[in-house]
Amino acid sequence: MIYDNHGRPITYLRLAVTDRCNLRCFYCMPEVGVKYLHKSKLLTYEEMLRTVSVLSELGVSKVRITGGEPFVRHNMIDFMYQLSEIEGITELNITTNGILTGQYIRQMKEMGIRAVNLSLDTLDKKRFFEIARRDEFDKVYETLFQLLEAGFEVKVNAVVMDGQNTQDIIPLTELTKDYKVSIRFIEEMPFNGEGSHYPKLNWNAPRILEEIRSKYPDLQKLVDAPNSTSYNYQIPNYQGNIGVIAAFSRTFCGTCNRIRLTATGDLKTCLYDDGVLNIRDLLRNGISDEELKSTFINVFKQRPKDGFEAERNRKSIITESMTTIGG
Ligand code: GTP
Ligand code: 5AD
Ligand code: SF4
Repeated sequence: MIYDNHGRPITYLRLAVTDRCNLRCFYCMPEVGVKYLHKSKLLTYEEMLRTVSVLSELGVSKVRITGGEPFVRHNMIDFMYQLSEIEGITELNITTNGILTGQYIRQMKEMGIRAVNLSLDTLDKKRFFEIARRDEFDKVYETLFQLLEAGFEVKVNAVVMDGQNTQDIIPLTELTKDYKVSIRFIEEMPFNGEGSHYPKLNWNAPRILEEIRSKYPDLQKLVDAPNSTSYNYQIPNYQGNIGVIAAFSRTFCGTCNRIRLTATGDLKTCLYDDGVLNIRDLLRNGISDEELKSTFINVFKQRPKDGFEAERNRKSIITESMTTIGG
């Protein structure tokens, strides 16, 4: 196991496999004019497998595949099989928008994937179209139930947006009555790829919770896993549970066990750094596994203690999109 300079173990890699997506959620990507990266700029599957292998030898045991939408990349499922076979990777998860996911359910089961995080912000077809700008609600909704039926642990990610989907908080919560699903309400972060300052957040975690409590006063707090991004709750006698992710207002820094690799190979040791080095360039310049390992160790020893604090004080405009950060 490797610890950073603040004693935090690095065990979790968020791997963004593509910047492309088949939706255009307005909090993530502009509707038109998105310039996708040229294929040659992306890490190849071989490069990603090699990087994950080296990281697994350093103690990374959990990999979450993110994007963009992972399944829009060609042959993603074959890559996932290969990833699942890396010794030391004991947990392989994926965050997906559910449009192409249904067809891969059997294979995901076969390779031992237990949990899938599904992005779904509303249960209303019209609002889905307004948010995601593509008419794909039925497909995603169907995928949700296919995943549950197949026995996956499903977490639904719903970004809460003022004036857009706050009326969905209760209906989404009500899904936990009959289904063993986690519904996680996420504070909106200013990563929409269009340039913004840190805005005032009208729907923060306490307000979301208040909204749920007003309908379900006997909401019970659950015990959260040590590195959980969400505060978790349950309504008595309901099968599923509710989570609130204070992605914008809370710092996860104290227990942060995660690093990120963008689709172009930028290694981020903190959500808020711009990439501390580019793995693709190192690999293409012939670095050995041993050298790569020491390079990782070196940057893990220079992680900021509280990147969030510095970010909050940032004066410049935020231009990043969630698709390049990988969430
Ligand atoms: P689990 O592995 O199931 O706990 O998933 P996760 O919550 O780590 O990942 P997921 O991809 O489902 O992300 C859910 C939300 O949490 C997204 O909005 C992410 O942007 C946000 N998130 C994930 N990691 C961090 C983090 O380190 N800091 C902040 N602020 N938000 C994060
Ligand atoms: N703020 C909060 N969460 C976001 N996601 C995408 N963009 C944002 C944003 N601006 C979420 C998606 C997905 C996860 C990886 O990140 O809902 O489920
Ligand atoms: Fe695609 Fe996810 Fe971004 Fe929506 S939030 S545009 S589904 S990557």
